[in-house]
Amino acid sequence: MFGNNSSDIGIDLGTCNTLVYIHGKGIVLNEPSVVAVERGTKRVVAVGSDAKRMLWKTPGNIIAIRPMRDGVIADLESTEKMIRFFISKVLPRYRFVKPRMVIGIPSCITEVERRAVEECAYKAGAREVIVIEESLAAAIGADISISEPMGHMICDIGGGTTEISVISLGGMVVTNAIRLGGDEFDEAIIKQVRSVHNLIIGEQTAERLKIEIGNAAPDKTIEKVEIKGTDAITGLPRRLEIDSVEVREALKDPITQIIDEIKATLGKTPPELAADIVERGIVMTGGGSLLKGLPKLVSKETGVPVIVAENPLDCVALGAGKYFEYAKIFDNSRQIYDTLNS
Ligand SMILES: Nc1ncnc2c1ncn2[C@@H]1O[C@H](COP(=O)(O)OP(=O)(O)OP(=O)(O)O)[C@@H](O)[C@H]1O
Ligand SMILES: [Mg+2]
Repeated sequence: MFGNNSSDIGIDLGTCNTLVYIHGKGIVLNEPSVVAVERGTKRVVAVGSDAKRMLWKTPGNIIAIRPMRDGVIADLESTEKMIRFFISKVLPRYRFVKPRMVIGIPSCITEVERRAVEECAYKAGAREVIVIEESLAAAIGADISISEPMGHMICDIGGGTTEISVISLGGMVVTNAIRLGGDEFDEAIIKQVRSVHNLIIGEQTAERLKIEIGNAAPDKTIEKVEIKGTDAITGLPRRLEIDSVEVREALKDPITQIIDEIKATLGKTPPELAADIVERGIVMTGGGSLLKGLPKLVSKETGVPVIVAENPLDCVALGAGKYFEYAKIFDNSRQIYDTLNS
């Protein structure tokens, strides 16, 4: 069923970033999941990085949108156009050789949303579409030997979703997925700055604060960053200096929710697999795992070691791409068992 066809591709259709992996070439595309369209006509004027630069800064006739929100497709038409644009960028001949696509999606999405992803991929030119859970893809991408009879815990914190799964023998034994991720971290910062300082800031400024001075646990040094926004009372632009203590305070709630989910997943894990996890540790992937101090805090709160995957932002795309190789292994062994049982 699965060959080493160079038109086989793996896609991480993320709420923040879309990545494409091509067999034999590696990750060939990594762009923000943003589309800019003309109001009314819905004509696409920019996709990816070009469109992200326009987010919140467009004139009246153009709107820059993030078609994926909370790990799901909020705007089907734009998502389809975005997938088609990215694929034609990396596979210019795809109109002649239709690719097979493996797409990593959050496991918390509904059947309708799952079908919407498949529909988008077919409309974007796929000849065959395989949709797999983000956790499974992340685990393969993080080089975890998922096919062994051993418990592995993977925690993927993306922009819109956090997915925590225990995997053994190539399948997901326990999964907890919540629609909360890095976007909520940014929103929490926006709320905090507004309520404490009466300053309205945008998502990009909040994200910059999070990445530059965000911290999940107290640090020895207090870092500061200057930001600009609009005064909520006067309506005039204003500068403000924010420190890392305040950002940490803002992030407390969403971080606590994520840690509670990890604990709940550990609580639902069968004892033998839990023993493997204590031994091997929790593997973290996704952009959220890059938040300073978060892996250490998770480890402290759960009593389990935490390892951040080598390229946490790339794991889902890598795993989706490599899924063909895994599927081949599973397919071969299934054929052997079928022969034994016949
Ligand atoms: N160094 C960093 N520190 C903190 N957060 C970061 C860092 N780098 C990226 N992020 C955050 O990671 C998130 C994006 O991660 P990722 O690309 O894994 O999400 P996604 O796959 O697009 O989303 P999802 O999996 O929910 O669909 C964003 O919220 C971004 O702000
Ligand atoms: Mg993701």
